[in-house]
Amino acid sequence: MQTTIQQQLEYVFRQSFNALGMSQSVPIVLQIAGRPEHGDFQVNGAMAAAKQLKQNPRELAAKIIENLPDNPLVASCEIAGPGFINIKLNNQYLNLALADDILHIGGIRPETVVVDYSAPNLAKEMHVGHLRSTVIGDALVRIYEYLGHSVIRRNHVGDWGTQFGMLTAYLEEIKQENSSEIELSDLEDFYRKAKIRFDEDPVFADTARDFVVRLQSGDEKILGYWRQFVTISLGHCQKIYDMLHTKLTPNDVVGESFYNDLLAPMVKLLLDKGIAVDSDGAVCVFFTPEELGSKDETPFIIQKKDGGYLYATTDIAAVYDRVQRLHSSRLVYVIDARQSLHMKQLFVTTKKAAVAAVDTKMEHAAFGTMMGEDGKPFKTRSGGTVKLLELINESIERAQVMIAGRNPEWSAAEVSELAEILGIAALKYADLSKNRLSDYIFSFDKMLAFEGNTAPYLLYAYTRIFSIFKKSGYSLDESLSWALDIKEDAEHRLAVHIARFADIVSETARENYPHYLCGYIYELAGLFMRFYESCPVLKAESKPLMRSRLALAALTAKTLQTGLSLLGIPVVEKM
Ligand code: ARG
Repeated sequence: MQTTIQQQLEYVFRQSFNALGMSQSVPIVLQIAGRPEHGDFQVNGAMAAAKQLKQNPRELAAKIIENLPDNPLVASCEIAGPGFINIKLNNQYLNLALADDILHIGGIRPETVVVDYSAPNLAKEMHVGHLRSTVIGDALVRIYEYLGHSVIRRNHVGDWGTQFGMLTAYLEEIKQENSSEIELSDLEDFYRKAKIRFDEDPVFADTARDFVVRLQSGDEKILGYWRQFVTISLGHCQKIYDMLHTKLTPNDVVGESFYNDLLAPMVKLLLDKGIAVDSDGAVCVFFTPEELGSKDETPFIIQKKDGGYLYATTDIAAVYDRVQRLHSSRLVYVIDARQSLHMKQLFVTTKKAAVAAVDTKMEHAAFGTMMGEDGKPFKTRSGGTVKLLELINESIERAQVMIAGRNPEWSAAEVSELAEILGIAALKYADLSKNRLSDYIFSFDKMLAFEGNTAPYLLYAYTRIFSIFKKSGYSLDESLSWALDIKEDAEHRLAVHIARFADIVSETARENYPHYLCGYIYELAGLFMRFYESCPVLKAESKPLMRSRLALAALTAKTLQTGLSLLGIPVVEKM
């Protein structure tokens, strides 16, 4: 499918607008119909156009309809209210469109997109705060790839800086004390102990500071400790990435340390261009409210008084690497909304300095905070941070209890296999289905419920379709090739919805909003249920009709499966 259904409709209406002498800049305003019983889509542009042309909007709407060119899509149009045009699509058109690899999305100019996501600080274990970045970032990666872009994942882990002086110094200390295996399995505990040593003992603190300097200047001995620590910490992360079925691998880790050699040149470049200036011994970039789009006088500090570099400096270097070396034209950062100012400052600075190109797209796919049911940031009962691993395990355990309760006849192995999939799916989907910009209240009960916009509901819907095929004796794949003959309203609405897949995925990618796709999948499942309740499939009155309905069911299953796979969620065949 080269052009999407919305593009085709836009084209048809544009021709009519042109025929009526309206300029290209008069918007058509094509939308999904607000009331499906009145149509599939609606065009709202007649009202604004009428104002401009000083005409009556309903009369103009009638002329627009009259001047539509011959086309296979539109079955009928109706004028409503002050000049809305309701459009009903042609069933004949849907029969053919759906047969034509409707889920494939073509005609996209491929780009190299770098997605910066997950990016925990390696000094500690991953906690709940990393779930959103990891899950949203991974969905975006899959969606861009589906559209044909070449995607580079960047796990910008915090593996550099002062904390690593303390940690390597502590590692050396306990190595000297006992030569046996060092317990790094509990990173939190290790960090806590190192911090206590740092706070208590000024000699240790000095060693730690000395280690930072030696680490950053490439001292092999300290680098050895550092590598040991980082390897273990990354191992913890990778375990979680695998459990969450993300695409992240060790190859995607390009941490802050990677940019070490670029930091001094970046500061020099910004100073030479007069973009950064000396401020009390530190090197800073200042912004005008116009540049920032808001009034905030906080400077972007890129070098401290003592010569040390910062988070900002590393990010500038990373932009350099991604644009100049990887030739990326779109950089997407899946980072907490609380870093919005940092991101804006980064985008403005790198554009100004031509580290990024004028037309490099730089997007902060920001997300809000995960809240507990008390409406406060999600914490353990004692007020500590919740480890991500513990959250994942609890989700799987709860899924297990639920599945065992629903299916008493299943073996323990069957239960755990599904629990692992469902627990993870529920966790991911709960996150992806919310508008990422808002804070959301985390609730195991809600995300594991079989009602509502949840993973269990959607996976269950898939299994229902799957069982129709099991009963029919036909395979899902063979049914996909059968001719469609859409007649009933419920069939029509389901077909129109499936035909919108390419538009939804494109919008999701354009705005980095996975919840668009989730909403679409949820609606798809609902429309299927409605179709299945009102149109007999296996008991259809004729064989061709049965085949048509099986084909529609198979296409629904394929759309569900494809949509969920773009969110990083696999389907199951029984539940
Ligand atoms: N490590 C950072 C943190 O935990 C996130 C890094 C995000 N990526 C970036 N390029 N700044 O807050």
